[in-house]
Amino acid sequence: MPKLVRFGVSMEEGLLARFDALIRELGYSNRSEAIRDLVRERLVRHEWEAGEEVVGVIVLLYEHHKRELPDALIDLQHRHHRLVIATMHVHLDADNCLEILAVRGPGPELQRLAEHLRSLKGVKHGQLAVTSTGRTLP
Ligand code: NI
Repeated sequence: MPKLVRFGVSMEEGLLARFDALIRELGYSNRSEAIRDLVRERLVRHEWEAGEEVVGVIVLLYEHHKRELPDALIDLQHRHHRLVIATMHVHLDADNCLEILAVRGPGPELQRLAEHLRSLKGVKHGQLAVTSTGRTLP
């Protein structure tokens, strides 16, 4: 268990009131946990912006009937096999497929891969969500 350190923070009354209202709405039981999450979020964003290794998922919604699309998706994933660590395919209904790619690598490379996948004809929507590898985040 990492050692906890207490520290004081000064801020304007109105800012703190808004923060308290927000974290109450979000379901936090105390300020400390909310502030820890804010710090972690900022650290992950910094890792991402600095081009450090991060992990994430790319979700793609695409048309099942575009016959050439699955080949293009698979080719692209093979070309970037160092970034793509796992995939899951869900047949949503008769016409729609959901593909979920677990990815790991430098943030900008993951972003480029996600944009390339999203640009393929027949992909209706695509999104990348990233987090830390966990090794750098207490
Ligand atoms: Ni499918």
